[in-house]
Amino acid sequence: MTVHFIGAGPGAADLITVRGLAIIRRCPVVLYAGSLVPPEVVAEAPDGARILDTAPLHLDEIVAEMARAHQAGQDVARVHSGDPSLYGAIAEQMRRLDDLGIPYDVTPGVPAFAAAAAALKHELTLPGISQTIVLTRTATRSSAMPEDENLAAYAATGATLAIHLSVTNLARVVRDLVPLYGADCPVVVAYRVSWPDEKLIRGTLADIRDAVKAAGITRTALILVGRVLDEAVFDDSRLYAADHHHVLRPKA
Ligand SMILES: C[S@@+](CC[C@H](N)C(=O)[O-])C[C@H]1O[C@@H](n2cnc3c(N)ncnc32)[C@H](O)[C@@H]1O
Repeated sequence: MTVHFIGAGPGAADLITVRGLAIIRRCPVVLYAGSLVPPEVVAEAPDGARILDTAPLHLDEIVAEMARAHQAGQDVARVHSGDPSLYGAIAEQMRRLDDLGIPYDVTPGVPAFAAAAAALKHELTLPGISQTIVLTRTATRSSAMPEDENLAAYAATGATLAIHLSVTNLARVVRDLVPLYGADCPVVVAYRVSWPDEKLIRGTLADIRDAVKAAGITRTALILVGRVLDEAVFDDSRLYAADHHHVLRPKA
């Protein structure tokens, strides 16, 4: 018996991996984070499977479900949104499983930042503009940030920022970033990417707050900030340059 942690992807049922879906299709117990995982994904569970939305459950109740399945020799599909390694709260579940001697594995998923880039048809790493993406968040009432992890520190590098769980902190995000990136720096607020009600709000640090307010977005949105979102002039990469030779394209 194994607990399989699975990334469901950003929302669209066909953005789960082939491996993740195959596991769901054969698991008699499916536990899913219903706030961000669409029911269509878990609807693929076998007939008679125990399918439970864990959004209203606390950690002990979730682990008790896993322990019960373990006793019964039943595999569990534990389905999280996006990729489970990002803000997935899987570490605390794994720690409990370790204590209980219950085996587990992890299947990755498409994270929201990658789905947002795809929806925008944008590369997030452009030569000469930014070669780094910072996946981060801001503090909320329930989750503090480690002392040295703050937007100003990341922005000092000029990296592209993918800011999670922070649309209600947009005023603070703008205030922290304007001095470093300039008020004209492009921003996209990507709401429920790949869901039927997806919205991509484009603006600058100067006007994004008004645009997001007008769209009525208060949750499930990713804030992307950086000059890569400009239609700016950038260099071709060296990867496909005709005069660049490497092991797979040796010099003739
Ligand atoms: C608890 S975190 C989960 C992140 C997820 N594990 C991932 O890999 O993207 C939830 C946050 O991720 C972002 N997010 C998740 N799904 C999203 C989607 N479909 N569209 C936009 N943002 C999303 C939002 O910032 C949201 O507040």
